[in-house]
Order: sequence, then structure tokens, then C-alpha cells
Amino acid sequence: MAKQIRSGHIGILTSGGDTPGLNAAIRGIGKTAASNGSMQVIGFKDGFRGLMENRSVRLDNNMLSGILTLGGTILGTSRDKPHKMPMGGKTVDMTDVIVENYHKNHLDVLVCMGGGGTLKNAFRLSQAGCNIITLPKTIDNDIVGTDVTFGFDTALGIAVDAIDRLHSTASSHHRVIIVEIMGHKVGWLALGAGMAGGADAILIPEIPYTIDKLADSILERVSRGKRFSIVAVAEGAITVEGDRKIKAVEKKLEGTEGEERAKLKDQLSALDSEYRGSTMAMAEELQIITGLETRVTILGHLQRGGTPSALDRNLATRLGTSAIDYIRDEQFGIMVAVDGEQCKAVPLQDVAGKINYVPPDHSWVTAARNLATSFGD
Ligand code: F6P
Repeated sequence: MAKQIRSGHIGILTSGGDTPGLNAAIRGIGKTAASNGSMQVIGFKDGFRGLMENRSVRLDNNMLSGILTLGGTILGTSRDKPHKMPMGGKTVDMTDVIVENYHKNHLDVLVCMGGGGTLKNAFRLSQAGCNIITLPKTIDNDIVGTDVTFGFDTALGIAVDAIDRLHSTASSHHRVIIVEIMGHKVGWLALGAGMAGGADAILIPEIPYTIDKLADSILERVSRGKRFSIVAVAEGAITVEGDRKIKAVEKKLEGTEGEERAKLKDQLSALDSEYRGSTMAMAEELQIITGLETRVTILGHLQRGGTPSALDRNLATRLGTSAIDYIRDEQFGIMVAVDGEQCKAVPLQDVAGKINYVPPDHSWVTAARNLATSFGD
């Protein structure tokens, strides 16, 4: 039965790193709203910055046509936060201006599509009195409360394709090839791609590694006549030493406020830069220990670009069209999440600021370990 929704205005913005499937989600909201009621859909450009600067576009049928298969976002995106907006070399709290523009545009709801950062910012706006709905998008799959995020499947496919290609060259040259895979501070992408691509070692942030254990696993392969190896490493992967230092500062952070907290946060980001994303240095060390020729491929933004997979198009379409149900029911302050074949509403306060880490005993990890894949631990 057609959904009956009242007249009014839906605002949409996309924020954070772009993700394949964003346009499918925009189209899902826009077309469902247009065909089932008299709601107008307005898109704000470049994330929260566009709402602050009141840069918008009417998302009519013309705008929504032909975008299902497009990667990126037709609205543009940015990582700008309402409460820390870069303005002339400083960061300024522009929350009031954003709330004012929300009302000036007569919005009944603002749909924010984004990852962890967007969720926190959207929650703040909902606390400031705006009606907010979010959709979980990120290639990292690091949002709690949803089975999966859209964008993950496409990025996974790209990373697996890369590993398949690296396999033949690694084997021909008898080399170790280390492939760095995105994922911010979680290992879903590296784990999934490493498993599907048959990587010999997988390094993820949730399972700290030592270079010696990693080297042992590669030399053990050599002893079995395997003269090449593929190592899938998450960009956030960390050594046991780095992890210990970071956890110690994180512990101090609990319950610390004010200046001391700011200092500890600075310490944390310094440790993150020192110990995470050091794939090149790790490769050099590995080459010295194993004596095997080693190469590095950093997949980087390739994993976010291009056309979304069929799974992501359908996931984003389901989430976008379902959002209209919650708008019709005036259920706000929620994220529309994936729950098996259904969508469900999860309160923003339950998900904002939380991270969906890979449980170290997750079935994907167990399956990989059963195949003697090394985690460097
Ligand atoms: O969150 C998505 C993501 O692609 C992460 O995997 C990565 O750490 C980050 O964004 C890269 O951000 P940017 O595109 O701003 O360099």
C-alpha cells in the first residue's frame, strides 16, 4: 500500500568520506517521498557546511533520475562539524546558524547520511532541537546498532580484486606483497578482503601484532616451499607495543575533564600517528628479518571510488525508502539500521560515539585461523 505522508520539507545531507551507495539512498528517499505524498526534498551541499551556508538544491525527479549507479554523492560532502567549523583559519561553533537555517528552510526533518563522525554531529543537532534521522554509510563498517553499513560491500570487492591481482605478481616474483586496506581504526575491510583473497597474514587493529611473529609465519611458508606471501594490513593495524601505550592513555582519559583531557587527547593522536599506518616502515623491517624481497601496495581512495555494488545499491535503497516510514510516523532522533532483511530504528544516543570493532573471536577470525592465516599474534 502507498505510504501516506503529510506535506512538508525533508532536508538531506551527506557528510564525511564519500561512499558508494549514497546516491542510491538519496534517490530512495526522494522518489519515495515524491510518489507517496507532497513532501518536498531539499539537498544541502557539502555536508553540514552547506546547511550552514544555506547552499541547497531541490531534489526533484529530474535530479534523482539516473543516479542509482553513480559513485560518490551528487550533493558533495565535507568533514566539517557544526560545532568546529573551519572559518578563516579558526574553528568556530556554528551550531546556532545551522539550527536557524534548518528552521528558515521549514524543514520537518534533516536526514544525515554519514559514518561515526556524522552520527555524533547529527546527535548534537538533535539535542539542539532539530528532527534528525541518520543512515549508516561508511566503507569501514564501524557503526554499532546495524548489521552492516552501505559502502562496505563495494570497498570489499575492490580490495579483493586487488589482492587477486597482487597474488599472481607476488607468486611470479617470489615476493612478499603487503597490501594496505582502509578501515580507519577497525579491521572489517582488511579481514574480509584478506579472507576472501586468501591472504597469508592479516593484520587488524583489534589483534595487535609483533613483527617477529609475522616474520615467523612467512618464513614457515618458505620452509614449506611457498616462496611468496600476501599480507593484508588494515591502515589502523598496530603493534603490541603501540597498543599497550594507547590503551594506557585511553585508561587515563576515563573520567578526566578539561585541560588535562585535551592534553591526553593530543597524546593519543600523537601515538596514533606514530604507531598506526606505518606500513612502509613495517615492510622494510619485514624485508630485513626475512631476507625476502618485499613490496607495498596502498589501495587508498580507490576503495571508495566508482560505481556501487548491487548489494550496496539495494541496501542503500532499502534504508532510504524505509526512512520515509519513520518520517511519516514522526519518529526522529534515530538511525535507520539494517536488521537482517528488515530495517529498524535505533536511538541516536545508543550509537553516537561508539565504534563497532571486530571481536577478536569473531567467526571470520576463527575461520581464517583454521586455515593457518597468521594474525601476527
Ligand atoms: O571513513 C572512511 C575512510 O575512507 C577511512 O577508511 C579512511 O581512514 C578515511 O576515510 C580517509 O579519509 P580522507 O578521505 O579524508 O583522507
